[in-house]
This record gives sequence, C-alpha cells and structure tokens, in this order.
Amino acid sequence: MPTTQTTRVLGIETSCDETGVAVWDSARGLLAHQLYSQVKTHRQYGGVVPELASRDHVRRLPQLTLDALEEANCLPASLDAIAYTAGPGLIGALMSGASFACAMAYALNRPALAIHHMEAHLLAPLMDEPDFAPPFAALLVSGGHTLLMQVDRIGQYTCLGQSIDDAVGEAFDKTARILDLPYPGGPALAELAEHGDSECFHFPRPMLDREGCDMSFSGLKTHARRLAEAHPEDTQAAANIAAGFQEAVVDVLVAKSQRALEQSGLNHLVVAGGVGANRRLRTRLAETLEKNGQQALWPPFEYCTDNGAMIAFAGSLRLQDPAARSDLEIRSRARWPLEELAPPPHFA
Ligand code: KG4
Ligand code: ZN
Repeated sequence: MPTTQTTRVLGIETSCDETGVAVWDSARGLLAHQLYSQVKTHRQYGGVVPELASRDHVRRLPQLTLDALEEANCLPASLDAIAYTAGPGLIGALMSGASFACAMAYALNRPALAIHHMEAHLLAPLMDEPDFAPPFAALLVSGGHTLLMQVDRIGQYTCLGQSIDDAVGEAFDKTARILDLPYPGGPALAELAEHGDSECFHFPRPMLDREGCDMSFSGLKTHARRLAEAHPEDTQAAANIAAGFQEAVVDVLVAKSQRALEQSGLNHLVVAGGVGANRRLRTRLAETLEKNGQQALWPPFEYCTDNGAMIAFAGSLRLQDPAARSDLEIRSRARWPLEELAPPPHFA
C-alpha cells in the first residue's frame, strides 16, 4: 500500500519542446503547473531543432521553477523529492532537465527521481481519478510512440502492439507538413479536418486485416502526399485529405484498441499522449467502447501533451522506489522500453 504520510514532489519535464515544472502533493493533488511551449522557436524550421530545444530548456527552467514554487506557495525545503524525465526523448533536451533536477536535489539534500516519460503519460489520467486502478489497457499515442500496453499494476507493463513504422503523432505531423500546415502539425491537421469530408478520398486501413495489435501509419502519410500532389493549391481538397487521413488513423486506433481489450480480457482503456487530445479519436473511442460495456479514460486536454504535472505525479508514486533514485547519477536515455520498468516496492 502507498505510504499515508503526505509527500510533495517537484516534477520537471524537458524531453522535447515543452518545459514543464509542477508540484504534486499526495494529499492536496496538483499545487502548481507551469508550462512553457517552444512552438514559436521551432515553427520557422517546421519541426523541433534539438539543439535549440536543449538551450531553451536551460534558459527557462530557473524562472519556471520559481514560478511553480510561488504558485504552490511552498518553500524548496518542503519538497520531498525532485522528479525529472530521464527518457525517452531528445538526449540534449533530457540532459538539460536531468542536470537541473539533480543539482537542485543535491542542493536541497533530497532524492532525485528518474522518471520514464511514457509511464508518466500512462499514469496521467489517474491524477484526477485516484480510485481508478490497474489492471487496464493503455493506448499511448505521442510524437515518438504508438503503443498498446497491458497494465497489470503500476510499473508492470506488457506491450500488446505497436506501430511498426511512424508513430501516430509523427504521421500527423508529417501529413500536416505535406498539407503546408504550421508546426505542430497534429492539432493544425485536426482543425483543418473539421472543414473536410472524410469520405471524399478513400484512405486504406493499414494492417486491420492482420491478426494482433501492431499498426502501421507511414502508408497513410504517403497516400496523403499522392493526393496532395494530384490536387495542388486546392484548399477544399486539402481539408478533405486531412479528414480522410484522420478518419483512417482513428479507425485503426479504435479497432486495434478493441482488439487489445479482447485479447487481454480487460474492460478499461486509458488513452494518453499528445494524440490523445484529438477530439475525433476521443469521440469514436468513447462511442465504440460504451457499446461494448467498456470504458475509456483520458486526462484533461492540457495533460495529454507534455507537462510537468505528470512527472511530479509519477515521481510521487515512485518516491519509495530505489530503482528510480538517481541522486548524483544524472540519468538520460534517448530510448528506454517501458517494459524494462518494474513496480515500485509498495505496488509489487
Ligand atoms: O505527448 P506529446 O506532447 O509529445 C511526445 O511525447 O511526443 O505528443 C506530441 C504529438 C505531436 O505529434 C502532435 O502533433 C500530436 O501529439 N498532437 C495531436 C493533437 N495534439 C497533439 N495529434 C492529433 N490531434 C491533436 N489534437
Ligand atoms: Zn510526451
């Protein structure tokens, strides 16, 4: 059982292009949530420039941390630990946050906790639903990952399926670029899709005819490119392509999620990661699961994309976990399979 003593954890997220700092209190919940998005820095390049991302995290972290502490109305000495994203992500961006967090932990004589970014996404819906507990299935859809996981307990994850090529967020971003939409492409494409007819162009539904829960999205992007080339400078065609693409992606994600639930015998699906903010995906999943007496759960929109709150929350769950303690060892991993994690002692 988790400890009953009240604890307070500062969370630092710097895996990509958002600098997030938040304070999670085990009794009172989220006390502060500060987020700086680097969208403007990267927009002119059409995507994230890793070196610029790292430098900007270094620049923003001190003030964001002060702002978070002020918002939480708490002194640094009242923190029980500093949790930071140790991976997966852009290595320079990760190292910026990791070294800041470890230095702060050292100065305060508190533990530094190395947190897995995708575990933090996966657990984010539990921030608002403390009674919701494993076992459940999880659909993790972000810029770098597309995973269907079986969650037997916190820290025990089995992969049921994944994308064999582009991550779904990556496919959204690349297709948005093809359609000349600004970075970040996912939300821009979703918005354009609202003005389009998803049935105007036929898009395939990759790998639906194959057993299992693996997925593929790069073919949809290529299909969108061919259609865009065949209809240059046609704004309605662009909207129809966006709608057709989005509907195909959603169909695949819904069908494979259904299959994951069937295969694992589970009734609850947690949806997390940036693409979890997609309204069409939310509506279609909710409808489909409800029909089968199943339930989908996702975090509020602002906690779908990268943020410090989910890191602080995951940190509070791993506070007693010696495997997460990094202290003077600054831990950063560009790649880090979720299945390598183990449950913290009190969840084992
Ligand atoms: O989780 P996240 O913020 O960062 C990573 O860990 O990758 O996810 C970012 C991804 C991007 O590919 C972005 O385009 C996509 O999530 N995304 C969306 C939407 N909002 C963000 N994709 C589709 N529809 C959205 N509304
Ligand atoms: Zn993320």
